[in-house]
Amino acid sequence: VTLPHDDLGDAWRSARPAAVGHHLDTAACSRQSLRVLDAVAAHARHEAEIGGYVAEAAAAPLLRQGRAALAGLLGAAADDLAFVESATAALPLLLASLPLPLGAVVAAVPGEWGPNLAAFADRGLTVRPLPVDGVGRVDLALLPHALAADPPALVHLTPVASHRGVLQDTAAVAAACRGAGVPLVLDVAQALGHVDCDHGADAAYGTSRKWLAGPRGVGFLVVRPALAARLVPVSPALTPARWPAMGDLPPAQRLESREAHVAGRVGLCLAVGEHLAAGPDRVHSRLGALGRAARQILQGAGGWRIADPLDEPVAIVTLTPPDGVDVVAARARLLTSAAVVTTVTGPERAPGEMTGPVLRVSPHVDATLADFEALAAALAGLPA
Ligand SMILES: Cc1ncc(COP(=O)(O)O)c(C=O)c1O
Repeated sequence: VTLPHDDLGDAWRSARPAAVGHHLDTAACSRQSLRVLDAVAAHARHEAEIGGYVAEAAAAPLLRQGRAALAGLLGAAADDLAFVESATAALPLLLASLPLPLGAVVAAVPGEWGPNLAAFADRGLTVRPLPVDGVGRVDLALLPHALAADPPALVHLTPVASHRGVLQDTAAVAAACRGAGVPLVLDVAQALGHVDCDHGADAAYGTSRKWLAGPRGVGFLVVRPALAARLVPVSPALTPARWPAMGDLPPAQRLESREAHVAGRVGLCLAVGEHLAAGPDRVHSRLGALGRAARQILQGAGGWRIADPLDEPVAIVTLTPPDGVDVVAARARLLTSAAVVTTVTGPERAPGEMTGPVLRVSPHVDATLADFEALAAALAGLPA
């Protein structure tokens, strides 16, 4: 097995504090660079020196640039992007701002992220399953008919799932939605910084701390103009109002939280800059190769089985345990006895698709084959 762009892995690693052990947990939370950590700390310090709102005004040019760069990764413009706290905060905000009648239909794959399904239910929407193949990918042959026969109010798609290393053909789904005149909303929490996300979707939302390697507590919501024009004002309880200037803001930015972790937004802007400097195509191709390499090395280790298609070009790798092995205890043991950081992904993450917990392994570009070999050895050494 060989990996592309070792220089990228080396640069990414040397830009960060040294990891303790093997950090294979990007899908939960990545490792920030020293520059990002310093920028966040410097902004917080600046707030204490000159005042929070004065410091925010001073950071405006950087935030404007970061807003444009982040929106650009999603094929949108700076005006289309609102900074929010998380992906989880973004979806209810978007749904509350769309003039959908109760019972309106959202089409989504059966393996949709559980908390998103809860947000649809909370808003009184009905979820209809999109046709999928055996691994949960949208069936592109059946999709146009499914959309035309009884068009949903919107299609919601998570291009890279949290619970299984499966990549959707988002470009093809976007084309089918455009053909049917149905708006498309993307959850790019696991996709942005990992795979190409510039597909002209009407809205997209995600989070800073995963594949973009920005700070925790920051997220984003992009609504392109055609859909933004339909947004209705939501209760000030949901968007701390930007009272005086509200009317001057572009519609999508009216969704932005006014009081916020601005230092975190500064950090996200820097992290996006670092991602662009690294070259998104290079990052995507190394992450895809790392996912494939991890599956080759980990398949069968200690009796654990890969649950994803082996060649899937994403760096989310999931393993099902041997009979009788508790995944929570195994994950804890990997951490304490081998210093390997992973996640247990339980069925609540994708209640329509999962039947039991899996162990999720998600390297960033600094990972090496030696990290996967160490994990394979640790899996083989777990108590039966
Ligand atoms: C697919 C998906 N959507 C949404 C989220 C939620 O993101 P956040 O924790 O930033 O709200 C996650 C986080 O794991 C995720 O994997």
